[in-house]
Amino acid sequence: MNAVVSHDNAVAGVAGPALGDGEFQFLRAFVYRHCGIALSEQKRQLVQGRLVRRLRALRMKGFDAYCELLRTDPDSELGELASAISTNVTAFFREVHHFEALANDMLLRWLEHKRREGDRLRIWSAGCSTGEEPYSLAMVLAEALERCGRHVDAKILATDLSPAALAAAQKGVYPVERLEGVSDERRRRWFLRGEGDYEGLACVHPRLRELVTIAPLNLLHEWPMQGPFDAIFCRNVVIYFDQPTKQKLFTRFARLLPAGGPLFLGHSESMHGLSDEFELIGRTLYRKKTA
Ligand SMILES: C[S@@+](CC[C@H](N)C(=O)[O-])C[C@H]1O[C@@H](n2cnc3c(N)ncnc32)[C@H](O)[C@@H]1O
Repeated sequence: MNAVVSHDNAVAGVAGPALGDGEFQFLRAFVYRHCGIALSEQKRQLVQGRLVRRLRALRMKGFDAYCELLRTDPDSELGELASAISTNVTAFFREVHHFEALANDMLLRWLEHKRREGDRLRIWSAGCSTGEEPYSLAMVLAEALERCGRHVDAKILATDLSPAALAAAQKGVYPVERLEGVSDERRRRWFLRGEGDYEGLACVHPRLRELVTIAPLNLLHEWPMQGPFDAIFCRNVVIYFDQPTKQKLFTRFARLLPAGGPLFLGHSESMHGLSDEFELIGRTLYRKKTA
């Protein structure tokens, strides 16, 4: 069946209502202010195409109503808007070298030092999307804790601004094909296979859920946590941000890390020229400098 193309957009070839110039400028300013994403003039058609679905879901006839919603109740729609214009693509053990560094080096050292009862170990997955990243961290952490054999108060905080992504993370149920990066041993160990109506699905083990706390958080807004974190993962998130937004974010991350604390970025992200508080110690792996 052909898509229904309204008259306004028939020329541009985009299905749905037209995005007027004023509305696009409002959306650009809004997205920059709340999501740190600088949309160029060339992105107009893309934004329109992505938001048409959102308008349909909200049963709105035009972008004027959508802009009005953002003006009157920005918080209610911000996550959905950000999800629509960015991507939630993620995978278990994505950029596996980061997990190897964590398992074979950092966790061993931290657990060696955290000897006293009640010592805390905290990892933050900032921009956790649908949960594959924090649950991969949880597998590595659970295995390290088992090997160390002592009680350590260990937790992974997983945050994102997309409500849909967070709901999926909270559910922790994935089609088996999504487990591509997970070894057979870990699949057996850390996932429960669905049966009957759940055939083809895998559910994360309760032990992993126990280690992961999932919460909504916009990285550009206030953060309720005080830190410190032993490590921060913020991978494939800042790619959408402009330089001043990245700079501010790295400064804020530095405040929550101890000297030597690692910050993991995504494969195409860099801190080059943006912060002198960190030094590069591996592939897109940084460490907070000692003063
Ligand atoms: C491409 S995914 C990366 C997921 C995971 N970190 C990984 O590397 O596989 C980017 C995530 O960042 C989130 N995100 C983008 N801007 C954000 C912001 N300002 N605050 C919090 N999360 C944000 C998006 O909602 C999305 O889920």
